[in-house]
Formats: sequence, C-alpha cells, structure tokens
Amino acid sequence: MDESLAHWLRLREEADWAARSAALTYAIAAAVPNTGTLHVLDLATGTGSNLRFLCERLPSPQRWLLVDRSPDLLGLVRARTEEWATARDYEVRPSATGFSIRAERLSCVVETRQMDLNALDDATLFEGRHLVTASALLDLVSDGWIKTLAAHCRAVEAAALFTITYDGRSSCDPAEPEDDLVRELMNEHQHRDKGLGGPAAGPDAMAAAERAFEDIGYVVRADASDWVMGPDAREFQRELIDGWAQAAREQQPDAAAAIADWRTRRLAHVDAGRSRITVGHHDLAAWPRRD
Ligand SMILES: C[S@@+](CC[C@H](N)C(=O)[O-])C[C@H]1O[C@@H](n2cnc3c(N)ncnc32)[C@H](O)[C@@H]1O
Repeated sequence: MDESLAHWLRLREEADWAARSAALTYAIAAAVPNTGTLHVLDLATGTGSNLRFLCERLPSPQRWLLVDRSPDLLGLVRARTEEWATARDYEVRPSATGFSIRAERLSCVVETRQMDLNALDDATLFEGRHLVTASALLDLVSDGWIKTLAAHCRAVEAAALFTITYDGRSSCDPAEPEDDLVRELMNEHQHRDKGLGGPAAGPDAMAAAERAFEDIGYVVRADASDWVMGPDAREFQRELIDGWAQAAREQQPDAAAAIADWRTRRLAHVDAGRSRITVGHHDLAAWPRRD
C-alpha cells in the first residue's frame, strides 16, 4: 500500500474541492444529457475524490467507472465514500460490481477497475460514456496521451472535465530568496516521465489539452482553480514544501544544501503560523459543438 499517496490524497481532497471552478462544474452539468442514466468515466481516480465531488452536482441517475493502476487506492474508494456519505445521511450499499450511493435526489452505481492507463489503448473504456473526467491528472501525462484522450472522447461524443491541473505558478508569503529557483526546478521535474504516455506535459498540460480539444472541434472552456492555503493548513503546506524540496534536489543535486536551507526556513514559517502558499491550477471543460 502506498500509505503516503493515500494520505496525501486525503489531505488534498478538501483543498481541491475548494479550488475547483464552480462555473465549469455548472457548465459540464448543463452539457451532459439530463435524461436516462448518465455514464461517467473517471481516469486515475485514486481514492475517489472526483466521484464524491461531482456525483451531487451532475444529473442523476448515474453509473460511474473508476479506473486506476493502484489496487490499494481503489480499495479505499468505498470506505472513503462511506465516510463522506455518513456525513450527508446518504446510503452506500454493496453491489455485484462495486457499490451504489442513494439519497433523495441521487442514485449512483459505482464500479472500480484496476488498469494501467499508460497506453490508453482500450477503446472499450470509453464506449457509451457521456462524460470523461479526471482530477489532478493532466500534468502527469504526455502531450500524445492528451491527444489520444481527446480522440477517444470525440469517438463517443463524450463531454470532458479535467480539474486541478498544475500550471507552473506558485507563490509563497513570506517570500524567501530561493523560492523562484525551487519553483523552476520543480517545473522542470514535472516534465519527467510519470508512466502515462512518455515525458509529462507538466505545466504545459493545460495548453496542450485546450489545443487537443479545439482540434477535434469541441467547445473548450478553462478557468483557474488555484490552491490558496492559509496559515491553518499546516500539514498540507508541510507536505507540499517537502515534495517541492525533494523534486528540486532530484533535478539539481548540487543545489541540495541551498534547497535544504530553504526548506528549513519555509517550514519555520509554517510552524510559526505565518505561511501562505498559492499554487496555480486550471480546470478545463469541453463538449462537442452542437451547431
Ligand atoms: C495525483 S493522483 C490523483 C488521484 C485522484 N484523481 C484525486 O484527484 O484525488 C494521480 C493518480 O494517478 C494514478 N496513476 C498514475 N499513473 C497511472 C497509470 N499509468 N495508470 C493508471 N493510473 C495511474 C495514481 O495511482 C494516482 O491515483
């Protein structure tokens, strides 16, 4: 079990939900069919954050397929969804292929599938889907992978919603002299191959996705979805700073001492309750042009 990734996904879920573009959530809910069962595919689902955010905001009834390469993360989807459902007085019931979520205005059947999406070559994943979605994924995939994804969406006329894509911006307050260096190294590191179609698009992913969906004739909308972390988000900020320091060190090992020093000062700001960090993300919604 990748405990640290499972922990990170729990930590970031609240921040992701606060950051997501409400305008694009409404736009995609209006773009998908509102009669019959809505079929949704969630790529690289992790522990199911995107399902929990969207299911209450999309037309019901719904049928979701959640795909990830990690059986351990998929194994947590139901328990985390039960926690979320309990807080809302919704019911989660086991089913033959997964589980279902029931509430007064929500009926949602959920299936999980363990699959490596590196090649994205299984067209059957997309068959019959009205919406293809992913959260915190696009910056990990290659430019070619994004083009293949767009072609799969086009083939079945599915709408698309990709949220919380890192766009290369970040700012820290109070500022430290090495903030820009660490961001630049981090952004270079973002282009390393993450096992999703080759060298990752990283901070260029949004532009690549806008191009890919425009090229297939879709209406494309983008909106900012920045994380804005105040002094109270101590654990989240600590994890983020550690992640940035590690990536920067891997990218430029001979700057390790300066990076370690930077990390110590940044963490001191967090511990003193005076650290604010903003991280730039974008959401993208796209759907087939109807005219
Ligand atoms: C940053 S996490 C995002 C998880 C989730 N969408 C969320 O918003 O919480 C990226 C996810 O991609 C999955 N992943 C990475 N490479 C993959 C691959 N080659 N095939 C399928 N899933 C992959 C990881 O297991 C992880 O769950």
